Amino acid sequence: MTQTLHLGQTLNFTGDPFIEGPAAATHSSRGAVLVEGGQVVATGEADTLRARHGEAEVIDHGEGLILPGFVDAHMHYPQTAMIASWGKRLIDWLNSYTFPEEGKFADRAYADEVAGRTLDLAIANGTTTLTSFCTIHPGSVDAFFEAAEARGMAAFAGKTCMDRNAPDFLRDDARSAHDDSKALIARWHNVGRARYVITPRFSPTSTPEQLDALGALWAEHPTCLMQTHLSEQVDEIEWVKGLYPEARDYLDTYEAHGLLGERGLYGHAIHLEPREADRLREIGAGLVHCPTSNTFIGSGIFDMAARVAEGQRIGLASDTGGGSSFSMLRVMGAAYELGQLRRNPIHPAQLLWLATEGSAKVLHAEGEIGRLAPGAAADMIVLDLASTPGIAQRSALASDIWEALFPTIMMGDDRAITATYVAGQRMKG
Ligand code: GUN
Ligand code: ZN
Repeated sequence: MTQTLHLGQTLNFTGDPFIEGPAAATHSSRGAVLVEGGQVVATGEADTLRARHGEAEVIDHGEGLILPGFVDAHMHYPQTAMIASWGKRLIDWLNSYTFPEEGKFADRAYADEVAGRTLDLAIANGTTTLTSFCTIHPGSVDAFFEAAEARGMAAFAGKTCMDRNAPDFLRDDARSAHDDSKALIARWHNVGRARYVITPRFSPTSTPEQLDALGALWAEHPTCLMQTHLSEQVDEIEWVKGLYPEARDYLDTYEAHGLLGERGLYGHAIHLEPREADRLREIGAGLVHCPTSNTFIGSGIFDMAARVAEGQRIGLASDTGGGSSFSMLRVMGAAYELGQLRRNPIHPAQLLWLATEGSAKVLHAEGEIGRLAPGAAADMIVLDLASTPGIAQRSALASDIWEALFPTIMMGDDRAITATYVAGQRMKG
């Protein structure tokens, strides 16, 4: 089989930068990634790999920084078309903008069109894996997985279940949520690079009966992930208390119905009570930080330092269309800014790790995505660290790779992504 040797700058994590600091990564100013059959076969110094693999086709990315593609651990592809909708907070935003748009996904052709558009935007922005909520329509899930399959992308998604507090045209019921999700698991889970994610939207839009049904489904299919929202806005938490008076806290509304687990992904998790943080840590659940969304919808400031100190498993996500950017660079930049508001300047090594390996870990897919190491998929990007004049004049003064990378994290966009590869295939650039 043909081997391709990519040359450029490389950065590889050998540890967790939240534990070891920037020493957890190795930088090579002239590194190489050897790809064969859609997978990474070897990484190392360019000279060494060139000497060893003289027969490989060589693609020289020059000064470009070769990285794993970004992994977005929480987003809503059906909200692509209404991203950046003005002036509302969570509940009004859902009712005014989100639900009307999600209603359009009853039309399979529309779902196909937006799924393709979303994945193309992801590729343009260097994101090679999306974890998406779909809509209540099973066809919206087929549309997403088919579009990902056509592009060779790893994809995590599920039918969003809602049986109350949503318009009639977006409501299922406990049984149909269970049965539709079950049929979709049979059709998609572990088929190629697709992974099915059981998806109750959040406690306010499910009856306890629906949460029970989805908890039972998860118990039947324990290799599936489960995704939902948790403690995003203070008003939402008050609403949850009213809807579930017997619950100890918001997390308990999931726990009591079989929806707390290690393979659970809890989006936002901003305003956690101590018991919730303890339980999430004990279980080893995934917390998904969505900083561009948290500022855009005015949700609050995720306490990264506290969550890291507790030893939580944390991923990073755009949460589009609540998040206002398709770029994980912008998401990393927003995570930095929110960190600053809590006097916690998150290091670029930690930001990059969150957007790659951290997200892969919450998805229980480390080894396949989020890292360029032997055996991983060759989902790769090449970053231009001087993609605009403003960035170029700053990175020119850098004395190490982190200083060179940070201006791109803070100011970069899709122009910084000179190439995107999915399973070794060039999709951009
Ligand atoms: N909570 C429930 N649904 C949503 C959603 O679509 N976006 C965000 N940001 N929060 C939610
Ligand atoms: Zn969300």
